[in-house]
Amino acid sequence: MAAATLNNRNLAKQLAAQEAVKLVKNNDIVGLGTGSTARFALMALAERLKEGLQIRGVPSSLATEAQAKALGIPLLPLGEVAQIDISIDGADEFNEELQLIKGGGGALFREKIVASLSKNRVVVVDSSKKVAQLGAFKVPVELVPVACRYVLDQFEALGGQAQLRYKNDALFITDNQNYIADVDFGLIANPEELAIQLNQIEGVLAHGLFIGLATKVIMATGEGLLVFE
Ligand code: 5RP
Repeated sequence: MAAATLNNRNLAKQLAAQEAVKLVKNNDIVGLGTGSTARFALMALAERLKEGLQIRGVPSSLATEAQAKALGIPLLPLGEVAQIDISIDGADEFNEELQLIKGGGGALFREKIVASLSKNRVVVVDSSKKVAQLGAFKVPVELVPVACRYVLDQFEALGGQAQLRYKNDALFITDNQNYIADVDFGLIANPEELAIQLNQIEGVLAHGLFIGLATKVIMATGEGLLVFE
């Protein structure tokens, strides 16, 4: 990707994240997403903390936890939180029904728990993430290693082509000590149905189809901000 395009995308991610952070209110419990766009939200939150805003964040990954700590954002552990006021997270794809594919960074399980606990679920993206139909981005699925062969065969039975994710020539291991499979289902005609089918496979911890888990998508384009809700 050309440097100018990359810079424009980063600027768009930053603008969308800054807009989302304006929605955070004093004393909110804030779900902290994972990825480059969510990181811009952490930075914007840290700026608001300096101005006197008081919040507690709930990280959706170990990486986000480390970033938030470095920025001085007070944290609550995900496993102890009963409700989150607002979460801000990125996405790999979204459509006009606010259905998402997430998990490019491998944090989909905790991101899904954060979104499920949240009253307001705000997704921040640049315009490259908007699609008419989900599925050009392969669906990340977190699976328990001991069930690996079985789970991969089940994906195939559903018409998916799965590849285990690698990083630096070794199998990618999630924060929960599991594997990620990136599964190509082609363009997905019925995301709700596929989500249910994936949930039914023993050994699948979570999949990257987020259905009914976004209340607002803030997308930055060259022309400004667009909000979908
Ligand atoms: C991580 C995610 C991210 O939100 C998604 O991959 C988008 O990342 P980025 O903001 O870096 O484009 O789901 O698991």
